[in-house]
Amino acid sequence: MPARNQQQWKEVPGKLKPGEYVDSRIYSDKKIFEEELVKIWKNVWVPVCHESELDKPYDFRTVTISREPVIVVRGTDNQVRAFLNVCPHRGNMIENRPSGSFENGTPSGAPKHMTCMFHAWQFDMKGNCVHISRSKEGYQDRLDCKDVGLRRLRCEVKYGGFVWVTLNDKIEHSVEEWAQGSFDCMQKALDAEPLEVFHYHKAIIPCNYKLWHDTNSEFYHDYLHYHNRITGFNDSYFARQNKVFDNGHVNVGSFEVQYDNYEGFESREELSFPHLPANHWEMIDLFPGMNFNLRGSALRVDLMTPLGPDKVMIEYRGLGLKSDTPEERLTRQRHHNSIWGPFGRNLHEDLIAVSTQQSTMNEWADERRILHGRYEGETIHDEVGMRHFYDEWGKWMDRWPGDPELSYNEGLRKAA
Ligand code: FES
Ligand SMILES: [Fe+2]
Repeated sequence: MPARNQQQWKEVPGKLKPGEYVDSRIYSDKKIFEEELVKIWKNVWVPVCHESELDKPYDFRTVTISREPVIVVRGTDNQVRAFLNVCPHRGNMIENRPSGSFENGTPSGAPKHMTCMFHAWQFDMKGNCVHISRSKEGYQDRLDCKDVGLRRLRCEVKYGGFVWVTLNDKIEHSVEEWAQGSFDCMQKALDAEPLEVFHYHKAIIPCNYKLWHDTNSEFYHDYLHYHNRITGFNDSYFARQNKVFDNGHVNVGSFEVQYDNYEGFESREELSFPHLPANHWEMIDLFPGMNFNLRGSALRVDLMTPLGPDKVMIEYRGLGLKSDTPEERLTRQRHHNSIWGPFGRNLHEDLIAVSTQQSTMNEWADERRILHGRYEGETIHDEVGMRHFYDEWGKWMDRWPGDPELSYNEGLRKAA
């Protein structure tokens, strides 16, 4: 087949069917992006941080979900709670720091309270308002503390101590119901003993969040990763099975990584996570943009915060066991960072790939087909994970991923 003219370039190549490709506009269109925030991201559970980042009562962390500012705090009863980080008075953001503790006072903050610096209203760790400055003088009996608590958010600590928050008060599912069995492959390993974050970095990447999720959920791109080819690409690698779950989640099945095949690397056997066979590698891709990646001795968790059609903030956490000795911790960090740290073997390769993908799908480019049509018995180079994700995406968005101008049902009818 010779190179194609403009018309041919836009056509579906070969015998690929609807559902086996998506339209590039879903990665670049501003309207679609805004819709995703409202229809999807405001209605799902998001693992905003890990409980070890809120080690003691009064520890807090601030995040955003779908542009809404959120604060999570540990109460004096040790419970972790989540609130909108918005003052009920005139809407100031209550806490601006990314993390810290309310235990000690600051020039504009009372000890053991969340204090809004604007007019000094104070809130306890349960989100109750406990002080309105010069309340009686200004409000007489028309407003008091009980009328102006913070907006609490549903929050669960689950799966190895992650703090899950949703903006949707009416969400039908618990986190476990939402995950639909996708954590079965690693739950025993995550819950055997307390975990602790040993690595954190975040990066703002010029790509659509779905491109990052795609690269986490397809392994055909291991051609990009020299390390993965050298330590995998044997019979057991090619037999790895993908498994799909309701709600758009996917597992990538395990196999034994041959770390010794890569010069300078060593077996992860000694520090394997509890219940994980030596040097094995389990992975969960959760709809719409979180990834739990357990590779021998280290757990990596990616959380995406979509910032624009071509911009995503990704937070990367590395976790080990809280009971690690300092030497064990150092070894885990080395194992984690040598592959996934900012200067690791694989991470920058993925980042270059998704950024250059996005650069060809900018808002001015002609739309084209992005192919997800590999079938190999749902094994590792089968693109079933992406197909499963985009089918779910289509339902939430009521858009057909292969032609986002069609509703989901119109697309289905066309595909039939
Ligand atoms: S805006 Fe928070 S106290 Fe006024
Ligand atoms: Fe990769």
